[in-house]
Amino acid sequence: MKIGISTGGGDCPGLNAVIRAFVKHAIGTYGWEVYGIKESFNGLMDRPYQVRKLELNDVSTILNRGGTILGTTNQGNPFEISGPGGKNCDKSQLVMEAYKDLGLDCVVVIGGDGTQSIAQQLSLLGMKAVGIPKTIDNDLVGADLTTGFFTAVDIAAEAVDRLQSTAESHDRAMVLEVMGRHTGHIALHAGIAGGANVILIPEIPFSYDAIIKKLAERKKLGRSYSVIVAAEGAFEQGAQPTYKMSASGKSNLGGIGEQVGKTLHQRLNIETRVTVLGHIQRGGTPSPNDRVLGSAYGAYAVEMIRRKSFGKIVVYSRGEFREVSYDDVANKYRQVDQKDPYLITAEDIGICLGRPSKFKAID
Ligand code: F6P
Repeated sequence: MKIGISTGGGDCPGLNAVIRAFVKHAIGTYGWEVYGIKESFNGLMDRPYQVRKLELNDVSTILNRGGTILGTTNQGNPFEISGPGGKNCDKSQLVMEAYKDLGLDCVVVIGGDGTQSIAQQLSLLGMKAVGIPKTIDNDLVGADLTTGFFTAVDIAAEAVDRLQSTAESHDRAMVLEVMGRHTGHIALHAGIAGGANVILIPEIPFSYDAIIKKLAERKKLGRSYSVIVAAEGAFEQGAQPTYKMSASGKSNLGGIGEQVGKTLHQRLNIETRVTVLGHIQRGGTPSPNDRVLGSAYGAYAVEMIRRKSFGKIVVYSRGEFREVSYDDVANKYRQVDQKDPYLITAEDIGICLGRPSKFKAID
């Protein structure tokens, strides 16, 4: 067997653990050949192809390394490559030509919903593909856990910890904006882990009155400081998510932290400061949990190929690894469920989710 492997979309910690496990199991157990494709599908669109044979040696020291040894992009959809005059061109035939010419039997696509939807379209053109989920956002439909999430939560939780002490010293409300696109998994987990007083997530449009009530009650009891975690996609009831232009002109979710900080200052006359954690959540050493999860995902994908279970994605769900179809996953995202046990936990222990709650004590 000759297998290609690629990483697409935004990077995340643990990608190298996936690649390493796949290469080790594929070569070590079955003696297959594995080819690393550079930067998602770009390596198959480029001429000459940007593909290199991976040996065990190539993966021997990458387990604890952040990023991806294959490179990645979140702007390389072969069906919509921006061409001259801003027009989109379909270059999928270049990918299929390379796939056939290289004699690949299958491509392992490590990516989130966007990348998996590209793989789904390539499958329809005849590419045999197997998907592995990854994203710090943990928002892939069907998967309880995606590679990268654990590390992002660790980093965000540490940030909440650090904000606690400086918030207390200065009697300030510290707002931390974290990633997550249109989902609040990172905010919820990091907020609980760091003991945040307020967590704002896109799944629960918030009311300033609820946040103000929480902060005002704390102040009355002499706790004049608070930590608020806001997911980048969070928004006020009746409003829309906020976007910011990146330095290179890409419109990304962001700015809600600043808005919350300003509004609380104006309405409560308290000092507020805002921290936007940004790509720090995506970089650096993967946590042990992400290395374990990534390794299991990588090894499982080998078994899918051996069983010729193509056109599917492996997901970890309810304590086991199983396979779901591209249709279940592509171009969708998994929000925090209103019955999510961690959402319930947060309110049970007095964390304000930007809405009235049954918690009566002041903590
Ligand atoms: O999907 C992962 C993610 O990190 C999101 O949480 C965030 O909104 C986005 O990617 C940032 O994308 P970029 O790397 O293009 O700035």
